[in-house]
Amino acid sequence: MLTCEQKFQELYHKEPEGISFCPYRICPIGAHSDHNLGKITGLAINKGIHIAYRPKENGVVELCSLQFDKRAQWHIAQVPAQRQGDWADYLRGATLELARRYPLRRGMSGVIEGTLPIGGLSSSAAVTLAFLGALCRVNSLTPSALELIQMAVSVENNYVGVSSGKLDQSCEIYSKRNHLLYLDTRTDEYELIPTHPQMPDYDILILFSGVERTLAGSAFNMRVDECRSAAYALKAYAGLPYGKFAETNLREVPREVYEQYKDRLPDTWRRRAEHWFTEYARVEAGAEAWRQGDLETYGRLSFESGWSSINNWETGSPELKALYDIMLHTNGIYGGRFSGAGFKGCCMALANPNYTEEITHKITHEYLRTFPNLEGKFSIHVCHSADGISLSPSIPSVG
Ligand code: GLA
Repeated sequence: MLTCEQKFQELYHKEPEGISFCPYRICPIGAHSDHNLGKITGLAINKGIHIAYRPKENGVVELCSLQFDKRAQWHIAQVPAQRQGDWADYLRGATLELARRYPLRRGMSGVIEGTLPIGGLSSSAAVTLAFLGALCRVNSLTPSALELIQMAVSVENNYVGVSSGKLDQSCEIYSKRNHLLYLDTRTDEYELIPTHPQMPDYDILILFSGVERTLAGSAFNMRVDECRSAAYALKAYAGLPYGKFAETNLREVPREVYEQYKDRLPDTWRRRAEHWFTEYARVEAGAEAWRQGDLETYGRLSFESGWSSINNWETGSPELKALYDIMLHTNGIYGGRFSGAGFKGCCMALANPNYTEEITHKITHEYLRTFPNLEGKFSIHVCHSADGISLSPSIPSVG
């Protein structure tokens, strides 16, 4: 398969002027916290989205992706106001967001390349940020990290229509190699906790189930609303002011209030809130464990986070649950869970590098015994922690 740089040359008979790169992210502890303003821990990994690009003086944005068939095109001053229902919506929305804040003079031609299969690593945030990076560069704009995060989140919330929080974008921007990002999504305060000198080495394994899928918007949004409903009801039971429904969130509910009134909640709302409150505690304990170099504890908390996603958040396809179960019984894995929202895609694991070969062999064997039809589609990728988004004016090697 061609790289984005080669494809660009083939299409335009010119070198790209730059390559914009944004890494994917993992979130071992802190799933489904962000949209209700909780805390998260996460890391960027050394795989992501590359865009080979050149400016276009006539203001046209013209994009193709090595992963999708259709090419997409629009003018910086005439972006469709509604989403069009294809992969390029994130980038139409991003053009609108940037144009709302800054004058745009140039468009760009670009070729997009994703380095891992889609689902669970937040390729949507990564492609949005890589694109924003390129469009800013061709227009000589330098928005702050926080502005980039806000624009990319707004694309998902307002243009694409998914009620996601800022976990993905924050990990993909703030992360630093060999550090754990610990972020409070309510205040935007964050800390990059260095890997303790005594912490054992680890590989980040991405176990791709073989079933690709972008975020299942309706199921995702319903769970966010279930959390809001729980927050609304709990505040009402406790006599707290509850404000506008669309702005309410579990972060505004003290844990004691939840414990006191949780049995009055409908079962599904209670489970969603149970996940949120226990995940909040796991994130705090996990950040402390990382600080101490205690990878065993951090990993165990990630396994517990996975359990709660299955039983309280009630997500996970049969493939992801099977992978999670196998991981639980595999030597050399400190911990892991579904990566991302949990609707198909992949699991991530933190693993002892001395066991990587053995783990790969065991998981592949057991998984394909259950899902023989996924032979050739299931894959394991060994990754490492990485820095957040970088914009490079020169052309690094791609791959
Ligand atoms: C998706 C969303 C994030 C976050 C995760 C689950 O990746 O985009 O905002 O909610 O799911 O933790």
